[in-house]
Amino acid sequence: MVHEVRGVVARDKGEAVTVETVLVPDPGPGEALVDVQACGVCHTDLHYREGGISDEFPFLLGHEAAGLVSAVGEGVTNVEPGDYVILNWRAVCGQCRSCLRGRPWYCFNTHNASQSVTLTDGTELSPALGIGAFAGKALVHSGQCTKVDPAAAPAAAGLLGCGVMAGLGAAINTGNVSRGDTVAVFGCGGVGDAAIVGSLLAGARTIIAVDINDQKLEWASNMGATHTINSAKTDAVKAIKGLTGGFGVDVAIDAVGHPEVYKQAFKARDLAGTVVLVGVPGPEAKVELPMMEIFGRGGSLKSSWYGDCLPSRDFPMLVDLYLQGRLDLDAFVSETIGLDDVEAAFDKMHSGGVLRSVVVF
Ligand SMILES: NC(=O)c1ccc[n+]([C@@H]2O[C@H](COP(=O)([O-])OP(=O)(O)OC[C@H]3O[C@@H](n4cnc5c(N)ncnc54)[C@H](O)[C@@H]3O)[C@@H](O)[C@H]2O)c1
Ligand SMILES: [Zn+2]
Ligand SMILES: [Zn+2]
Repeated sequence: MVHEVRGVVARDKGEAVTVETVLVPDPGPGEALVDVQACGVCHTDLHYREGGISDEFPFLLGHEAAGLVSAVGEGVTNVEPGDYVILNWRAVCGQCRSCLRGRPWYCFNTHNASQSVTLTDGTELSPALGIGAFAGKALVHSGQCTKVDPAAAPAAAGLLGCGVMAGLGAAINTGNVSRGDTVAVFGCGGVGDAAIVGSLLAGARTIIAVDINDQKLEWASNMGATHTINSAKTDAVKAIKGLTGGFGVDVAIDAVGHPEVYKQAFKARDLAGTVVLVGVPGPEAKVELPMMEIFGRGGSLKSSWYGDCLPSRDFPMLVDLYLQGRLDLDAFVSETIGLDDVEAAFDKMHSGGVLRSVVVF
């Protein structure tokens, strides 16, 4: 059977998204069909619309979602209809060279559904990050479903499916922020604020939030930043050094992905410090750095994909922290919107008016 649902489609580079009827097939072998309950608007959806991720238009956007499994295909054993799940874009294969070496969070061959979701004229859609959850139903590989406690509200829990996990993990997993560390986070959107929260959970003593928008900085303080810097008005590198005895931070996290911001992060870290790039750069972005400083300062320059998370390990644990009141996921939900409001949510993202707009069904 084919299900007709409404979905948010990016037809062409830079064009406003449209809400269209999309056709979702029943799950085949290894696949699961999920009734989407909530899906957050992530900056990566906008990168897709702008052609910054790939040219495989049209895209079915949305990838930060929670919902209920409605059907599973042949051979699926990890979930069954009725299960409450967060969708993930890291269904690990267990067989690639990284999985076999015991490092599945770097899996080089993650699973997605094999069947396609199409427009009514048969045009195949490329689902954002292999998910495509700005639609009433999402067809995914069963490994993309992580069961969590159904007591967690979908609008909050879904955010663990991308941005919040990416930020938390950038701090805790990739940056290895530890008790007593000093941290600077550049860009305080959903991802950056999650890096602030992750640093707080990990026991950082100083957490410096950097943004060009004062509203974002106020929210970053509420999330646990100990200091804020508006880098449109102040030299962020100097200010960070001033707050850290002249040395710089142990971990500098770039949650923007612009060359200028990356350079600030690079210069704002202490000797032997770590720079983590979690913001996604544009395809043409280039950065020039003094090689002697790359060498001389020691430490490491790392990238963080999805916060180096392992969904099966991390989602249920983080949902527990949320339900215990130790991780305020609700604070990331600025507004709940309908499917027709995704384009407007992109505008709000640009103007800095929201942390996360979340589509609820
Ligand atoms: N690596 C991953 O796995 C992963 C996952 C999700 C999102 N991302 C990426 O992370 C980035 C942030 O995503 P988001 O959803 O939080 O976006 P967002 O648009 O909500 O937030 C971006 C923030 O950066 C700030 N900013 C912009 N230019 C700046 C500058 N020059 N200096 C300081 N701050 C600046 C903005 O004011 C805003 O607060 C995006 O590039 C997104 O694609 C990466
Ligand atoms: Zn693998
Ligand atoms: Zn995302």
